[in-house]
Amino acid sequence: MSHAKPVYASFRSIGAFIPEKILSNNDLESMVDTTDEWITKRTGIKERRIASDDENTSDMGAKASQIAIDRAGISNKDIDLVICATVTPDYFNMPSTACIISDKLGIRNVQAFDISAACSGFVYLLSLAKAFIESGMKKNVLIIGAEKFSSIIDYTDRGTCILFGDGAGASVISATTNKDEGFVDVHASADGSYADFLVTPAPGTINPVSQKVIDEGLNFVQMKGNETFKLAVKTLTKDVKDILRKNEIDSKDIPHFIPHQANYRIIKAVGDALKMNKEQVVVTVEKYGNTSAASIPMAINDIYESGRLKKGEMMLLDTFGGGLTWASALLPFEGNNI
Ligand code: ACO
Repeated sequence: MSHAKPVYASFRSIGAFIPEKILSNNDLESMVDTTDEWITKRTGIKERRIASDDENTSDMGAKASQIAIDRAGISNKDIDLVICATVTPDYFNMPSTACIISDKLGIRNVQAFDISAACSGFVYLLSLAKAFIESGMKKNVLIIGAEKFSSIIDYTDRGTCILFGDGAGASVISATTNKDEGFVDVHASADGSYADFLVTPAPGTINPVSQKVIDEGLNFVQMKGNETFKLAVKTLTKDVKDILRKNEIDSKDIPHFIPHQANYRIIKAVGDALKMNKEQVVVTVEKYGNTSAASIPMAINDIYESGRLKKGEMMLLDTFGGGLTWASALLPFEGNNI
């Protein structure tokens, strides 16, 4: 019989890459029939970042990762698993973006793969990192949420082009025997019967690349915005209440509620349902828009770099996205203070 001490997954660091180019609401006014006032009122977004032609998903992911590895105080050779969440990979079929990121970081002979869970990607990664570490299979897992959403957006569709932006965030999740440093809980779920709420119809086996795909713009995001909005508020409110109740934690004891940054109205509705005050709820949607799998790590990085997030403080994460997928997590930040 083994008497090995149990190990726990611990959130050791955060890093992000934020593209320089800004696309403001005023810029969008000259591209589609919209106004800064409409976008601000309905979404809370004022501007979003757009990656340049030579900043691909793997470039952004690799830059965020190097910062995360350095901040964790380990070296690239200590990483024994690389997983990237993205729905805007460098290549839609192969190789995976995680393999390209590993190569850019000089991480070789280490398992690397991508996952597809749209905006829920980063919290899905936390569940995977937890499983790999707590089963004893891996010790230092590099997780990355990276998206170049501008590459799948139709900038003549006012229903989607106002929402999304580009960026990346990464984190090192490491094994610890100190239970207090470990994740408290991660919950991830999905319901494929809502698959048509958020779709990029091509490229894929249903619509391989063809003239029809180009002519009909099937390579761009299609979204049932209003239906997604209502389902998001309902699902997220239930999910965050469930994870808090299950772990017997009161929402007033959570210093940092870091929701997926899709729309300020969704964030506010869920925050209000939890009776959270303004200081608890992290909002970055006004400056980055919705960066899908990168949104939560970019938001964590923001409060880390501003000195608001300190070692040992509890984070509550929640997210939803195409699939439909949703997820929430309760975990302490165990990185070094900046
Ligand atoms: N500018 C001006 N008017 C607009 C715009 C725009 N950019 N977009 C839509 N409108 C119009 C519509 O045409 C409609 O006009 P009508 O009443 O004459 O028909 C009116 O505004 C209201 O449209 P709704 O779609 O009902 O507006 P709503 O309040 O729902 O806001 C929005 C739209 C912002 C898209 C909202 O539904 C939303 O944020 N939904 C959630 C989307 C989301 O989070 N998706 C990401 C999921 S994460 C992932 O996995 C990628």
